[in-house]
Amino acid sequence: MNHRGNQKFKLAYSEIKIRKSYPSWLNQAVFYQIYPQSFLDTNDDGIGDITGIIQKLGYLHWLGINAIWINPCFVSPFQDAGYDVTDYYRVAPRYGTNHDLYRLCREAHRHQIKVCLDLVAGHTSLEHPWFKASCRPKRNKYSDRYIWTTTGTSDAEVPLSFIRGYAPRDGNFVANCFYFQPALNYGFARPAADQPWQQSVEATSPRETRQALLKIMNFWLGHGVDGFRVDMAFSLVKLDPGHKETIRLWQEIGQEIRTQYPEIALISEWGNPEESIAAGFDIDFMLHFGAGGYTDLMLDEKCFFRRHNGKNINNFLNSYLAQTAKTKGNGLISIPSANHDMKRLCADARTMKDMKVIFSFLLTWPGVPFIYYGDEIGMRYLPGMESKEGGYGRTGSRTPMQWGTGENADFSSAGKDQIYLPLDPRRNRPTVQKQMADPRSLLNHIRQLIALRQHAPPLQAEGTLIPLPVKTDDHHFAYLRQSGSERYLIVLNPSVTPTQFTVEGIKVHNLDPQLKFGTQAHINGDDIRIIMDSVSYGIFKL
Ligand code: NOJ
Repeated sequence: MNHRGNQKFKLAYSEIKIRKSYPSWLNQAVFYQIYPQSFLDTNDDGIGDITGIIQKLGYLHWLGINAIWINPCFVSPFQDAGYDVTDYYRVAPRYGTNHDLYRLCREAHRHQIKVCLDLVAGHTSLEHPWFKASCRPKRNKYSDRYIWTTTGTSDAEVPLSFIRGYAPRDGNFVANCFYFQPALNYGFARPAADQPWQQSVEATSPRETRQALLKIMNFWLGHGVDGFRVDMAFSLVKLDPGHKETIRLWQEIGQEIRTQYPEIALISEWGNPEESIAAGFDIDFMLHFGAGGYTDLMLDEKCFFRRHNGKNINNFLNSYLAQTAKTKGNGLISIPSANHDMKRLCADARTMKDMKVIFSFLLTWPGVPFIYYGDEIGMRYLPGMESKEGGYGRTGSRTPMQWGTGENADFSSAGKDQIYLPLDPRRNRPTVQKQMADPRSLLNHIRQLIALRQHAPPLQAEGTLIPLPVKTDDHHFAYLRQSGSERYLIVLNPSVTPTQFTVEGIKVHNLDPQLKFGTQAHINGDDIRIIMDSVSYGIFKL
């Protein structure tokens, strides 16, 4: 198709407009995810702590980060790295005290950084006093805080995962994820009439659970926290087709909490923006599970961001565009660089050059970027590590942050056998120290990208996205971002094959390169001619 003659280039391709009904700070937000165990240890016990995060706020500010999400940091037996909470109101002693966390909020705000905690809303640990009380045969206030069948000797014929024979109480309990994560009782969407243990969402105990959750949220918000990433947010109401009741539940919670805290961010681990944004979340992730697209982009053997044999971007793009359309502009989608549940980006044969192309995408794409700690220096996924705290295959993505060239990469002064997880053993492992000093490093590339994004409204969350047409055998991808009269062209070639192509029907007078590598662009009448080397990128202001 030839688009010559179109006066306004924006008419040539379909636009994805993002309307906003979420806190305005999210438009410019660049999040950084911190796995606290592995970030910085300041008391030499081999495990990262809150003081360590405070000490690195200057670094995060230098990088351009303006919001952090910290994985659960509350009292826990850590059978699942803290996603098994025993006390929602108390910071785990290994990370410090509540006062350290309050101080983190204050100090972060001084650095213009917002702080979001991880809210494990769907389940607790087996050691939580609510669960212990709930295990007792004698009825008490917490008997129905969790979901128990009537008797432990008969099977419940429903697709839920039951733990059998756990307590003296007669009954089996429902687990949310691992066996040691008993599901809190928020009720059933359609309780079966002949199964009295299935309570309706409006029954007393599910309503009390909801109130208990609100109380936890209010507590931390009252101490200066700016929002929550909600773990398994989709999981609360059981046997809930289309998550309709879970959506209603979150709408109610969101409304209530935002009356007092209108500027907070609610971020869901849901993986289905259509549902989560309708539920009132401000941000949902595209992930390795759920509505799809992320795997085709980053993880699959033949994903778009592969040097060899990568497929074109259409699978991702179609899924992304469909999900964006369904959010109706009421929230934002995040494509994280990775997280503690998946392989790091820098895995398999990926190099720093590949990483630069990927980050050129992540930081010029709509929605809210989330950088997983260490990805900014290209820390590697370490395969085959012994499982730690329920990590299993995820453990290789959770190793200590590589700050410098000292002992334990300056993560901790504890002995090697005391540190949380072994470090990347390679002598030339990347570090913040080395990369800060190298203007051509991945770290400095990301810093430049963030600075560019923060000064260029088209590149921010809400800027209009105009993807350019993709042919079946294209290994490159080009798109425009626009806001008002300002617009940018981004071209990416993650593949080993050099490429040339024409962006047609775009009348421009300037092509001002902002950041580029191996890429040339020329104005040619109403077209732009692009010539790209293998593994290259270009960001141009038009
Ligand atoms: C999702 C979390 O991200 C993951 O780490 C955890 O194991 C499960 N939820 C259970 O809480």
